[in-house]
Order: sequence, then structure tokens, then C-alpha cells
Amino acid sequence: MAALQKSVNSSLLGALAASCLLIALWVQGGAAVPIGSHCRLANSDFEQPYITNRTFMLAGEASLADNNTDVRLIGDTLFHGVNKGDHCYLMKEVLNFTLEEVLLPQSHRFQPYMQEVVPFLTKLSNRLSQCQIDSDDQHIQRNVQNLKDTVKKLGEDGEIKAIGELNLLFMALRDACI
Ligand SMILES: *[C@@H]1O[C@H](CO)[C@@H](O)[C@H](O)[C@H]1NC(C)=O
Ligand SMILES: *[C@@H]1O[C@H](CO)[C@@H](O)[C@H](O)[C@H]1NC(C)=O
Ligand SMILES: *[C@@H]1O[C@H](CO)[C@@H](O)[C@H](O)[C@H]1NC(C)=O
Repeated sequence: MAALQKSVNSSLLGALAASCLLIALWVQGGAAVPIGSHCRLANSDFEQPYITNRTFMLAGEASLADNNTDVRLIGDTLFHGVNKGDHCYLMKEVLNFTLEEVLLPQSHRFQPYMQEVVPFLTKLSNRLSQCQIDSDDQHIQRNVQNLKDTVKKLGEDGEIKAIGELNLLFMALRDACI
């Protein structure tokens, strides 16, 4: 009798365990996990001494030409009110803008660094192409829009400033995406 009781209990436990597993699999497959998982870059992307040096050299050259010290594009304000888990997506948007609206129009300047850094950043941008978030991203878009507006308002000086902050962009991408 005791033995029968035991076997009933264990098969009940087995069924419970199986359904817990099913629920766990279902939650994992159906919810946000795959979406955010594309918002990732590899540690090794940021551990290449040569291209890191070129990126910082490019930023250094441009910041010499940037005489507006009052404005900071990549700083605390950019992340204000944005969840840590959404920082990589936010930086993806900033990177996209920087490539298309800053580096492309200035691509003839700051050689030879520019011609080496643009393909590197383009590669990172491509890696993040599937990075989406499932939450409402209005807040993120507003912060990104502020950055865009600041650059546009300053015109060419704004583009130079953004290039001068490529070192900050590099570090912010690293912090947000790995
Ligand atoms: C980059 O490398 C050069 C030598 O190739 C060196 O003079 C320079 O200080 C380095 N710059 C940075 C920011 O690492
Ligand atoms: C910054 O320098 C540019 C020339 O490189 C000049 O046109 C502009 O007026 C300067 N801005 C300020 C705020 O000094
Ligand atoms: C920027 O984003 C747009 C829209 O998602 C995309 O079509 C474009 O390829 C992106 N550009 C870069 C340089 O990643």
C-alpha cells in the first residue's frame, strides 16, 4: 500500500514537472526573449586595438575642430528615463543617424581615419539590424530626436561635434550592447 502510494505520488510529480517544463518553454518561445536577443554585439568587436585606435584618433581630430564645449550629445541626457535593457536599441538608433546624417556628408574629411572607421561602424550597425524592442519606444525616440535636432541646429558644427564624440559613441555602444 505504501509502495502504491509512493508510485502514484511520483507519477503525479512527473506530470507536474512535465507541465512546468512545457509552460517554461511556451513562455520563452512566446514572449520578449527573441526580440531583445538581437540587441547584442560581441565583446571582441570592442577589443580590436587597431580600429579602436583609429576611432579614437578620428574623434580626437574632430574635437580639435569643435569649439562648442557647451553641448554634449552622448551623455546622461540621452539615456534619461530609458530602461537599461533598451540602451542598446537606443544606441542602435544613434549609430544609424551618425552613419547616415553625419559620417556620410563628412566622409571626405579626417582621412585616413574616416575611411577605416566608417566600415567598422557600418558592420556594427548591420549586426544590430534585427534589434527591436517590444515596448512602446516613444521615450527612446524622443531622446534620439533631441540629439538629432541638436546636430541639425548646429549644422556643420554639429556634425563635427558628433564626429568628435565617436569615442563616446564607441564606449556607449560597448556598455549598452555587450
Ligand atoms: C594610436 O596609435 C598611435 C600610433 O600608431 C599612437 O601614437 C596614438 O597615441 C594612439 N592613439 C590612441 C588614442 O590610442
Ligand atoms: C567655431 O569655429 C567655426 C570655424 O571653425 C566658426 O565658424 C564658429 O563661429 C565658431 N563657433 C564659436 C561658437 O566660436
Ligand atoms: C538605418 O535605418 C534604416 C531604417 O531602419 C535602414 O533602412 C538603414 O539601412 C539603416 N542604415 C544603416 C547605415 O544602418
